[in-house]
Amino acid sequence: QAQDATAGQRVFNQCRACHQIGENARNLVGPQLNGLFGREAGSVEGYNYSQAYQALEKTWDHENFAVYIRDPRGVTPGTKMVYAGLRNDQQIADLIAYLDQFNAD
Ligand code: HEM
Repeated sequence: QAQDATAGQRVFNQCRACHQIGENARNLVGPQLNGLFGREAGSVEGYNYSQAYQALEKTWDHENFAVYIRDPRGVTPGTKMVYAGLRNDQQIADLIAYLDQFNAD
């Protein structure tokens, strides 16, 4: 499946109300998302996660992120991330390509 980071940037507009990414990204309603892939879930310094997140033991990768973003509250009951979910596989692939750009520099 072709991945388009530019299209993914547009998909990320759905996330921006709560998440920052990139240089000087700060925690807002949700944690900053730099270096997400390879990061332990619930591990951003200074961000106050829900109990549900504090109990998680997973490291974010493309595969478990794709499962999560499709249905955040179904995958992680009790999460305070209020987002209905992204159901479009192409948009998920594009979003992953966008997020990947902030993984290494
Ligand atoms: C957590 C991604 C939309 C609020 C997270 C995490 C990811 C993520 C990967 C886990 C971070 C970690 O483990 O450190 C996204 C993406 C979105 C999106 C890609 C758009 C497609 C939103 C929206 C909101 C939101 C719209 C607010 C209305 C939160 C909150 C958490 C969180 C509050 C912390 C969850 C908890 O402690 O239970 N998000 N998010 N997110 N997100 Fe989002």
